[in-house]
Amino acid sequence: MKIKLPGQKLKEKKAISEPANSNKKKKKETKNVLSEKSKFAIVEAYKSARTNIMFSLSASEQKAFAVTSYAKGDGKSTVAANLAISFSKMGKKVILIDCDLRRPNLHNILKLENKAGFSDMVGRMVVFDDVVHRDVLPCLDVLTSGTIPPNPSELICSPEVTRFVERLNREYDYIIFDSPPIGVVADALLLKDYIAGYILVTRERKTTHGDIERLLQNIKLADSKPLGFIRVGVTHEGKRGRRGYYYYYYYQYY
Ligand SMILES: Nc1ncnc2c1ncn2[C@@H]1O[C@H](COP(=O)(O)OP(=O)(O)O)[C@@H](O)[C@H]1O
Ligand SMILES: [Mg+2]
Repeated sequence: MKIKLPGQKLKEKKAISEPANSNKKKKKETKNVLSEKSKFAIVEAYKSARTNIMFSLSASEQKAFAVTSYAKGDGKSTVAANLAISFSKMGKKVILIDCDLRRPNLHNILKLENKAGFSDMVGRMVVFDDVVHRDVLPCLDVLTSGTIPPNPSELICSPEVTRFVERLNREYDYIIFDSPPIGVVADALLLKDYIAGYILVTRERKTTHGDIERLLQNIKLADSKPLGFIRVGVTHEGKRGRRGYYYYYYYQYY
């Protein structure tokens, strides 16, 4: 199924197979993942985002939300992984699912195998228990994207996903979907029935006001809601005038 919403730049991105990642790229992917070595300010920013998201979820009595943005490369997967890590640190059971079935990246970010995953499970080629990565960190399970399918939008709409999410709701405290960019394809919006709303990632010096307007418009048209923004890639003048770290800020939408 192809849905074109206002502001979407391309009709449908051609699915690509897993890029032949060099070690250098893999290292770059993982360096932004929260760990004991992460800067205090970044860990705290994610904690504050987590608190705000928890309030939004409890208000809607939902356990699930999706992370999206306007374009590819904005940092959705990195933010989704870090939010999942941050939620799991509270000792709550979290599942993170890669629903970007066109350009999946979570498995690279978290260094997981992706021989089979979400798409194979929805296509009934495998069962969840055989493909889920259990305890990637304490309290954190991850389902990678799986094989890149020819029909990602149809897969996301399938009744199998509804049944799957019902099960997740019974087994987990928080469900986090990583999803494709809304400015490119409508897949992320197809998740709306399973979630409380969207966390929107904006990237400094890349995401434009127009992009944000179109994001919000598309979410509204889909009859869903934004839960908040996470702004990534904010450079900071260091003590010696050097451009410093990447900071994360959270803005509540309303
Ligand atoms: N906060 C950040 N600071 C620096 N680089 C980042 C940050 N978030 C993501 N990146 C880098 O940007 C690239 C794209 O990130 P990714 O999370 O895969 O984006 P998306 O899922 O939106 O396509 C990756 O190479 C990643 O390492
Ligand atoms: Mg991604």
